[in-house]
This record gives sequence, C-alpha cells and structure tokens, in this order.
Amino acid sequence: MTLNIITSNAEETKALGKKLGSLLKAGDCVLLDGELGAGKTTFTQGLASALKIKGDVTSPTFVIAREHKSLTDGPNLVHVDAYRLSTLAEISHLDLVTDIEKAILVVEWGKGLVNDLVAEPIHIKIDHDNIDENKREFIINAPELIIKGLS
Ligand SMILES: Nc1ncnc2c1ncn2[C@@H]1O[C@H](COP(=O)(O)OP(=O)(O)OP(=O)(O)O)[C@@H](O)[C@H]1O
Ligand SMILES: [Mg+2]
Repeated sequence: MTLNIITSNAEETKALGKKLGSLLKAGDCVLLDGELGAGKTTFTQGLASALKIKGDVTSPTFVIAREHKSLTDGPNLVHVDAYRLSTLAEISHLDLVTDIEKAILVVEWGKGLVNDLVAEPIHIKIDHDNIDENKREFIINAPELIIKGLS
C-alpha cells in the first residue's frame, strides 16, 4: 500500500519518523530515498526516538553502518548509508555485532539496492518541494498494517 504525507519542517518529519518507529518490530527494514538534504537522517532521528537506544543518530556518511544498542530488551537500530553498497546482502558482511534479523534496519540511499536480505521492506521516497524549501513529500510504500498505523 502507498501513503503520501507532506511535512512542513524538520520537526514534523521527526514526528512522522517517531510514529513509524513506534509501529516497527525486530526484523523490519526501512529503505529511505531522496537527494542530498532531503531529510533521510532527520526522519531516522525521529524514528530512533521511538526506540530506547544508545547514542545519537547522526549521518552515517563516513561509516557504512552505525549500530545503536537497545537500552532495554527491545531491538537494536542499525543505521546504514548504502551509498557505496550495491546489494542489501553486503550488510551482512559488514562485521556488525547486531543480528540484523533481530534489529530494526534503516538504510539511507536504499534506491536501486538489490534486496536479497529482507522479504518486505518499507520503502520511503522523500521529495523536495520546488516552491517551499522546507516542504517534503513522503511517499511511503509499506504493508497495510503500517499504512493504517500512519494514517
Ligand atoms: N520538512 C523537512 N523535513 C526534514 N528536514 C527538513 C525539512 N525542512 C527543512 N529541513 C532541513 O533539511 C535538512 C535535512 O538534512 P538530512 O541530513 O536529514 O538529509 P539527508 O537526506 O539525510 O541528507 P544526506 O543525503 O546528506 O544524508 C536538515 O537541515 C533539516 O533541518
Ligand atoms: Mg543523511
């Protein structure tokens, strides 16, 4: 299912990310697309705020993946910059401590990435508005339960 949501500033984007974060469970994967500065990391910060995890979410540009351990018995967060990856399976060669199947995986630049790792990823495309520089459109492709939770 697809859902389109518009945010008018970074705070609204974080709130949307938080809402999605509260709907996720271990093993879920979110692929984020959108050009430089679209709001992929901002969205991930909101998503992370719904999870009880260690450390701040920052742009993982100079490391391929950053692991955030859960402070509870909830899932860890693995935040990936896939810019230099070509298949999702390469994530399993990254020497992560976290077991991906038990984590929540958020991948920036997931577009065009061959998905051979997770069955049903949530795909989110973030588009810029040409008129209002703070406006973003989120085109969310996700299973029905997630879409219902976000609507
Ligand atoms: N509606 C909005 N949603 C998200 N960010 C917004 C919005 N309006 C303005 N911004 C600003 O746009 C910037 C988004 O940066 P962010 O690092 O999240 O983008 P990104 O997609 O992760 O970029 P990169 O491709 O470099 O990783 C931030 O400075 C944020 O404050
Ligand atoms: Mg980023």
